[in-house]
Amino acid sequence: MLARQTKRMFYNVAGPLMRANGVIYRSFLAPRNGHQVVKVQLGPGQKNYFPGWINVDANMFTGKCDVWADLRNKLPFRDSTVDVFYSHHMIEHLPDLAFHFHELHRCLKPGGVFRIGGPNGDTAIRKFAEGDADWFIDYPDTRRSLGGRFENFIFCRQEHLTILTYSWLHELAAEAGFEAIKPGQPGELTHFPECIDAEVLAKEPETTPECPHTLIIEGRKSA
Ligand SMILES: C[S@@+](CC[C@H](N)C(=O)[O-])C[C@H]1O[C@@H](n2cnc3c(N)ncnc32)[C@H](O)[C@@H]1O
Repeated sequence: MLARQTKRMFYNVAGPLMRANGVIYRSFLAPRNGHQVVKVQLGPGQKNYFPGWINVDANMFTGKCDVWADLRNKLPFRDSTVDVFYSHHMIEHLPDLAFHFHELHRCLKPGGVFRIGGPNGDTAIRKFAEGDADWFIDYPDTRRSLGGRFENFIFCRQEHLTILTYSWLHELAAEAGFEAIKPGQPGELTHFPECIDAEVLAKEPETTPECPHTLIIEGRKSA
């Protein structure tokens, strides 16, 4: 994991270039409203590149992506041109989730869907209250105390800017205009199997499905 200071420096230096690249992509290269199916993954990282999808990330050095863009900005897609947005452990890095959900809604075609996953604040809070320190993982740091393990999971060396709970994500999605908003199950349940296939679900490892580490939410833009 990049040191926080290095990451901040990277975004300071590369931020304007990524913004320009996002504008250029959206203006000249992004798919236009047509019959082709457009599936977009936001933040594939080092291991989760999806062939056949448009993968967007800021990390073009250790990761692989098709579009180099900063997802804190307006998304690099035209209005109503995307069929599916998928992201996994990305949105907790963004400073303005209300803006992000509105951007997803702007770019999706009518009837288009999203599936978003991130650190499960609901389970973390429950496991903290139950005193179950073993549920928390040793990433990025190894901590011994319950509170230390909780903090490590939620804020990830201050890489994460927020705590993701289902009710809050539901509120953000509803305010952005989405319908059919429902929880998914990591690696298993999607309400949109025609868009989110088994290969995508297979990229969502979960060691304790009964109390998942990843919170999944899905929703649809009205047709
Ligand atoms: C924790 S990794 C998750 C990678 C992968 N989706 C997974 O589940 O293993 C977060 C990813 O989101 C990307 N990311 C975070 N903030 C971003 C931003 N502002 N713009 C573009 N990409 C960003 C990072 O570069 C990284 O690839």
